[in-house]
Amino acid sequence: MIRRFLLYLSTARWARAMTSRFFLARRVALRFVAGETLTEALEVVRRLNADGLKVTLDYLGESVEKAEDTVEVVEMYVAAVKAIHTQKLGSGISLKPTHLGLDISQDLCINNLRTILQAAKDADNMPVTMDMESTAYTDTTIGLYRTLRDEYGFTNFGTVIQAYLYRSREDMKQLAAEGSHIRLCKGAYLEPATVAFPEKADVDDHYRQLVDDYVQSAPPAYLCIATHDENMIQSARTSVQTHATPKDRFEFQMLYGIRSSRQVELAKEGFTVRVYVPFGVTWYPYFMRRLAERPANLWFFAKSLFSR
Ligand code: FDA
Repeated sequence: MIRRFLLYLSTARWARAMTSRFFLARRVALRFVAGETLTEALEVVRRLNADGLKVTLDYLGESVEKAEDTVEVVEMYVAAVKAIHTQKLGSGISLKPTHLGLDISQDLCINNLRTILQAAKDADNMPVTMDMESTAYTDTTIGLYRTLRDEYGFTNFGTVIQAYLYRSREDMKQLAAEGSHIRLCKGAYLEPATVAFPEKADVDDHYRQLVDDYVQSAPPAYLCIATHDENMIQSARTSVQTHATPKDRFEFQMLYGIRSSRQVELAKEGFTVRVYVPFGVTWYPYFMRRLAERPANLWFFAKSLFSR
């Protein structure tokens, strides 16, 4: 119930306008965000790298409505790619199709993606992942991914599959056969029971099944196990052990500010661990999805508003 309400608020314009102006909300949101500028974000990347963690840098924003507003987004991503490369940081980038104009036109979005992918390719094939948004975009995002993966031909380019969707087993099967680079997450958007499992237990079972299937696929298919759920992590470890999956065929991923010490522990055990690090001023929808994932965050948020 609370989760659904918070996810509704994450897309409500009135709530966004109200909360974004609220200084204290911004302060709390920064627990999950590496700062507002690229310079601040790169500092966080450097710190995480020093702890043995890799990063994927996300410039916050989505649902852009004007073509001219995507210009700055592309410039920021290209600047990020160049800075990561020249400063020899262990990071790639993550981007959202609606941040690059998908709601305006598919052509605009694909051309923006091409500019960024070319920069990433020139930067020694820096890893790029296209995030998955709501089911309104699933088919288009997978289609864009396939087109660009084949056009640029680099294996570090990936997309995301959400375990809460019924369709994901079939999508994963096909993407594995094509040797794709896939981040598997549970799914963070408000979806109806016609397309997504409403019960957490079913999402978790599906997640385990999808990991188990994918780690058995042939190279170069690569799996990013994106979760903070200890049960999912343990079951993924059992799957990779059972199928003797080499460590260079998968990695763990978590979000910045969530289970930070567990991230370091896994890296110390010899696993590749990548932290998703968002930065920028458009933090509201991202922050609301993080609140929706864990009602205890709401309590933390409320407490911060009333304490100094
Ligand atoms: P679950 O929600 O069951 O949480 C398990 C435990 O993890 C909780 O009990 C708590 O301890 C901890 N936890 C989880 N979320 C927390 C939070 N917000 N604050 C504090 N603790 C928390 N989704 C999507 O739809 N499209 C995408 O492209 C991506 N991309 C993405 C990248 C990466 C690297 C990650 C880790 C996640 C995503 N997600 C995503 C989000 C994902 O779909 C999902 O909503 C969250 O990861 C929460 O699910 P968990 O698997 O962590 O399990």
